[in-house]
Amino acid sequence: YTAELDLSDIGKGTYPFYMLKEIDEQPTVMRKLISTYTDENGKMKVDPDIVKAIQASDRLYIIAAGTSYNAGFGAKAMLEALTNTPVELGVASEWGYDMPLLSKNPFFIFLSQSGETADSRQVLVKVNELSLPSLTVTNVPGSTLSREATYTMLIGAGPEIAVASTKAYTGQIATLAFLAKAVGEAQENPLAFEFDLVKELSLVAQSIEATLSEKEKIAAIVKKNFLTTRNAFYIGRKQDYFVAMEASLKLKEISYVQCEGFAAGELKHGTISLIEKGTPVIALISNNEKVALHTRGNVMETVARGAAAIVIAEEGAARPEDDIVVNAVHPYLSAISMVIPTQLLAYETSFQRGLDVDKPRNLAKAVTVE
Ligand code: G6P
Repeated sequence: YTAELDLSDIGKGTYPFYMLKEIDEQPTVMRKLISTYTDENGKMKVDPDIVKAIQASDRLYIIAAGTSYNAGFGAKAMLEALTNTPVELGVASEWGYDMPLLSKNPFFIFLSQSGETADSRQVLVKVNELSLPSLTVTNVPGSTLSREATYTMLIGAGPEIAVASTKAYTGQIATLAFLAKAVGEAQENPLAFEFDLVKELSLVAQSIEATLSEKEKIAAIVKKNFLTTRNAFYIGRKQDYFVAMEASLKLKEISYVQCEGFAAGELKHGTISLIEKGTPVIALISNNEKVALHTRGNVMETVARGAAAIVIAEEGAARPEDDIVVNAVHPYLSAISMVIPTQLLAYETSFQRGLDVDKPRNLAKAVTVE
């Protein structure tokens, strides 16, 4: 499946739900971002004023809500490595009250699919009162957060109709990759020159395509483990932990299965007491030598307590008995490729339970109240 999708098309065609269509569009979104943010020679095409403003900053503050907040975590390590600047994450609804102690030259990045989230806007209003520079990364041109921030970078993922966000999450991380590389190059950071983003993002698109062809396998995992369970866990370390947070949010949002995304090593410090016979524990194991074996150890701990373990591993770290293998990508971008099977798992759980995948109860696509 490599359809050249017209992203302006807001019909769902033959898809039963928008969410599945939007999951399927992600390879196209990745390729589209390459043409948006690079020229024909592969040179970065990022607004030089944004690059300069970030170069002048000593700390980046990413403010967001929900899935966008998780996307910020997915990009944090890459941003820090390439821009050589510490990155702090803030939940928008918590930051709306009093600003914490800020660094001398802060730069704010607002991540928001809709660009309309009131909690995030509340923080932006304060940032503007303090005359501090800001960037909104959004999927909606002309949105409130875009108009009110100093700068905007568009994700260009096309309309996202399903309440549960998928292509905006992966699109946000990819957009931040262009930003990180452009700033890194301006700072002459060798890591930024070595990071061949056009090539790496193309590989990400291929990795996503490969995972999208595993839908039946994921549907079978869901049928076996997720139709009656009331709770589940996602575990992972480092980048995989951040993906675990997003993966569990997605499952909760649309299937109403209580799910926690946990740092794999933290489970034994209490939460493991929640594991019962048959509790699904999904481990995310990307190809990071330092952490993969430790996470495997944590999987064994949960299995010893009766958990139904499901392992999603990246090629290189994968073992023959693993349930899903994700094609390897550059470590900076692994949150994008590793999240795909978890999106499909959430979708399938909601679908097989007969729920309204696109419009889960109590949730709205954009929340414009604080
Ligand atoms: C709502 C949606 C979430 C979304 C969050 C942030 O709560 O239900 O799916 O992640 O808002 O939205 P934003 O448009 O700011 O990314």
